[in-house]
Amino acid sequence: MPINIAIDGPAGAGKSTIAKLVAKKKNLIYVDTGAMYRAIALYILRLGTDPEDAEAVARDCKGANVTIGYEDGVQIVYLNGENVNAYLRTEEVGNTASKTSANPAVRAQIFSLQQELAKENDCIMDGRDIGSVVLPNAKPKIYLTASSGVRAKRRYDELVAKGETPDFDRIRTDIEQRDYQDMHREISPLVKAEDATLIDSSDMSIDEVVDAICALV
Ligand code: DC
Repeated sequence: MPINIAIDGPAGAGKSTIAKLVAKKKNLIYVDTGAMYRAIALYILRLGTDPEDAEAVARDCKGANVTIGYEDGVQIVYLNGENVNAYLRTEEVGNTASKTSANPAVRAQIFSLQQELAKENDCIMDGRDIGSVVLPNAKPKIYLTASSGVRAKRRYDELVAKGETPDFDRIRTDIEQRDYQDMHREISPLVKAEDATLIDSSDMSIDEVVDAICALV
């Protein structure tokens, strides 16, 4: 049986940073499921489809074939064969993914890709519904969170470090809006799985969170 670790939580909680470090320490592959939803969002954006039009999204997402590869341990997302990693991390794609990922047709499209990856590899997979829906047998399951203020501040600092001049209040509002969308959708809402360990990283360093998770593995 492969090792499968699930790490779920709201936007900006630091899941990917932490999961990458745990993956390195424990020799696992890191599976970023948000990137898969972002790839479908990118496809919908490129088509010009309204992400709020559920029927159109359900119809159009069928044209998006998302696959995953690894280069030097880094996950590469292919959209219909094109490496789209460079286009996935924008606010526009993230906000669109939060909307389109609520669509059952979109979720069905990548559900089996996630399960196959977990069946074939020792992995740490992060997302919103990994412990609750995708990998119910994952062990351990982590629910990683932090206050919206702390998450917004981390995002703000990241953008400043890139030379941008972001608006803190706007970032915080976006984060809170995404939390609401991700937690209140009908299908696979973001919830803490009953058997998940809650880690609130608001007052923890990255190393402290990584150590806390490694201690559970
Ligand atoms: O983790 P992220 O910010 O890259 O995710 C982008 C969006 O994708 C997020 O707002 C909700 C959705 N998502 C999801 O519904 N289920 C997952 N397992 C991962 C992400």
